[in-house]
Amino acid sequence: MIRVAIVGTGGIAGVCHVPALRAQAHRASVVAAVDVDEARVKAFCAEHGIPAAYTSLAAMLDGERPNLVHLCTPPHLHAAQAVECLRAGAWVWIEKPACLSLAEYDLIAAAELDAYASVVSQHRFGSGARHLRDLAPSLGRPLVGLCVTAWYRDHAYYEVPWRGRWATEGGGPTMGHGIHQMDLMLSVLGDWAEIRAMTGTLDRRVETEDVSMAVVRFESGAMVSVVNSVLSPREESYLRFDFTGGTVELRHLYGYRNTDWSSTSPLWDPPSEDVPSSHEAQLAEVLDAFERGEAPPMSGREGRRALELITGLYAAAVSGRPVARSELTVDHPFYHRLDGGHGTDL
Ligand SMILES: NC(=O)c1ccc[n+]([C@@H]2O[C@H](COP(=O)([O-])OP(=O)(O)OC[C@H]3O[C@@H](n4cnc5c(N)ncnc54)[C@H](O)[C@@H]3O)[C@@H](O)[C@H]2O)c1
Repeated sequence: MIRVAIVGTGGIAGVCHVPALRAQAHRASVVAAVDVDEARVKAFCAEHGIPAAYTSLAAMLDGERPNLVHLCTPPHLHAAQAVECLRAGAWVWIEKPACLSLAEYDLIAAAELDAYASVVSQHRFGSGARHLRDLAPSLGRPLVGLCVTAWYRDHAYYEVPWRGRWATEGGGPTMGHGIHQMDLMLSVLGDWAEIRAMTGTLDRRVETEDVSMAVVRFESGAMVSVVNSVLSPREESYLRFDFTGGTVELRHLYGYRNTDWSSTSPLWDPPSEDVPSSHEAQLAEVLDAFERGEAPPMSGREGRRALELITGLYAAAVSGRPVARSELTVDHPFYHRLDGGHGTDL
């Protein structure tokens, strides 16, 4: 059995990670959970039949020697905790956003000596997304795209202390919400070349943006318009890809099935199986990779892509000028901090 531990027993741990692990009960067993809130971790373990509750990650790693750790803590903790797990020889599956900067991401990647890190990006793993990636070469050249995350998060949502702050959430809806759609888009269209962007804080009492808009030119020449909002009462996640050979569209909210996809192309037939976008679908692949001893999906270069685009978006918004992907090296201020050191001035 693969020995799994869950770190951070808040919202996402119970809603998505426990069910995903339950579906893998034939090969993975949850041996422990960790949270700094002792009452919460004890209640979580009692509810889900997890044998050991810890309030310290170090003590858990030492006491349980897990093979895989699910990191479900707030984003500002991910980098240090991921490195701690990797150094202890445990693989780590990190909730999005993986960390707060490309600098932190590269530190995690550098710690992948005896174990791997993978970033949660469940929307890449449904059968519809796979089908599109398989079919894309037959659909001709990608020309135009729309990537819209029009979600709604009320004022109460931002009362959780880590949300809406550069130092703890790492960004607004660009980093926390639109990341899902943008990552799926990147998995289809490949590398981008240049981005122009604006951000605004229009209504929520947050330090970060509550809306961002960008235009992106890809290396293929394709041009995409991106919207990331938490101010949109009729919520929708929308992706559109116009290839020379047809349009492919996805309309959903927090997860899709095959029926949420449509296309004008006669080549688009429904995939033979209907795998919803879900933590369950990605976890199955992470465990497959673990059993083979190979790098899992969403590690290394793939796991970095969304963060790279987000970095470019913030850099373009703050500087008011186009940013090339090739600029985002260690010498670039946004490589280290996504507010570029501007903090609340953004
Ligand atoms: N993939 C998705 O669709 C999705 C959806 C929601 C949230 N998330 C991500 O999941 C992560 C957690 O979000 P959430 O909504 O569950 O947050 P949450 O605030 O509900 O839970 C976080 C938990 O971490 C605990 N914690 C804080 N510091 C800790 C530490 N040092 N060690 C151990 N535990 C600690 C907190 O006590 C809390 O119980 C975030 O990165 C978020 O962006 C992903």
